[in-house]
Amino acid sequence: MTDIYVSPQVMESQKEYACRVREIIKEKYSSPTVFLRTFGCQQNEADTERLGGIAVECGYTLTDDEESADLIIINTCAIREHAEKRALSGTGQFKKIKKDRPNTVIAVCGCMAQQEYRKDQIKNSYPYVDLVFGTDKNHLLAEMLYTVLKTGKRQYYVSGLSHDKLGVIAEDVPVLRSSDYKAWVSIMYGCNNFCSYCVVPHVRGRERSRNSAEILKEIKGLIDAGYKDITLLGQNVNSYKGDMDFPELLDAAASANGEYRIRFMTSHPKDASDKLIEVMKNHPETIARHFHLPAQSGNDRILKAMNRKYTREKYLETVKKIRAAMPDVAITTDIICGFPTETAEEFEDTVSLIKEVGYDMIYTFIYSPRPGTVAAKMEGHIPHDEQVRRFKALSAAQDEISAEKSKSYMGKTVKVLSDGNQEARNSQNKIVTLDKDVPAGTFVKVEITETKAYGLKGKVIN
Ligand code: SAH
Ligand code: SF4
Ligand code: F3S
Repeated sequence: MTDIYVSPQVMESQKEYACRVREIIKEKYSSPTVFLRTFGCQQNEADTERLGGIAVECGYTLTDDEESADLIIINTCAIREHAEKRALSGTGQFKKIKKDRPNTVIAVCGCMAQQEYRKDQIKNSYPYVDLVFGTDKNHLLAEMLYTVLKTGKRQYYVSGLSHDKLGVIAEDVPVLRSSDYKAWVSIMYGCNNFCSYCVVPHVRGRERSRNSAEILKEIKGLIDAGYKDITLLGQNVNSYKGDMDFPELLDAAASANGEYRIRFMTSHPKDASDKLIEVMKNHPETIARHFHLPAQSGNDRILKAMNRKYTREKYLETVKKIRAAMPDVAITTDIICGFPTETAEEFEDTVSLIKEVGYDMIYTFIYSPRPGTVAAKMEGHIPHDEQVRRFKALSAAQDEISAEKSKSYMGKTVKVLSDGNQEARNSQNKIVTLDKDVPAGTFVKVEITETKAYGLKGKVIN
């Protein structure tokens, strides 16, 4: 276990590199700034906050103006081809900035950059990128930056994360949080599930859990600092393995004093346990009434081909238990349509699943082959037009279900956390438009006066 932690010596050396970077950039720029751009999921957003923290330690201040930035960090995603295209064209946008201001350092990192062939592509086709590094190198940003600044040469730090490698855990990395009331807390990294379509285990390495004491210390610090909405992050939080299991960790996180909400993402249906449901039930105030339970498909043959390790029946049983324990819970899901070999009939099983469960919201994705995954090598890829047809059919079915779900809130009084600009979210994570402005980060009670498929309107009552 212990050898997956980056040693305190290495972390100490990063502080020294940060000092050296500080010296260099003081000479080089008038007031050094960093611009951060993130593609991808919450894990990536959390990583960007740590990269930002290190950049600040190196002497940069955050800017939202890319034109004037001295350091640009682009954190990329590889989950679907579209995500990679966006990340690449996002990188391309900085070509002109580099031309106008050659002293700007441009770095590309994250899940797309972790893949050797993408690293080579950036090396060959994006000559204005100075630094490329993989997901397991984030904590070494100070050292990598130092090398770029010192040598003036392009640098690449991407080693393939092979199947037997664990990746690493780095503690005591500074964090530049983007909000003062909402926070991400990574409780684990990587994934061992190898769902046949998914690139994540290939770019994020093996599953590894942070020490529970470190996590609880971070959460307590956030609550003490006034954070109200804290999301525990992991590709599959249910397989958290510290000196306690995930339900125990969640229970401890939800037992602190204060007014706050804990959320978590994502929960793999194969191991969403009775114990987890029990803990959620026991903390109606501090654990959000929201369960994101990605089904991916409603057909057993497809689930098997996806290597999901549960059946439709088992999934529905879990949903039933969640609802029995928490009648007011919102359940949401992810669905992939047009997985290789999926017949029109098998797809109908997914349509019937979403009707049977009655989700509050679904995130539907068109299957995208990812190089190196098992599914990409399968025969029987579904034509794009048919994938789109299925995507639209699911969306239409869900619109009706969501509208019905929303109606059940009519006239009710709910507690919401304001995001400012007359927007807020309730415990179920539904967007509530308010009749007046409430400072961001404040809990208020509202009476629901209007409902739409994906949002509610409410009147502030205190
Ligand atoms: N770890 C999380 C999900 C991470 S990826 C989990 O297991 O639930 C988020 C979602 O992207 C997945 O749930 C899946 O629906 C979708 N996804 C992943 N790989 C995909 C691919 N190759 N094509 C289309 N959608 C994909
Ligand atoms: Fe991908 Fe499956 Fe891991 Fe989620 S659990 S990240 S879908 S391999
Ligand atoms: Fe994308 Fe990596 Fe997240 S591939 S979805 S940023 S784990």
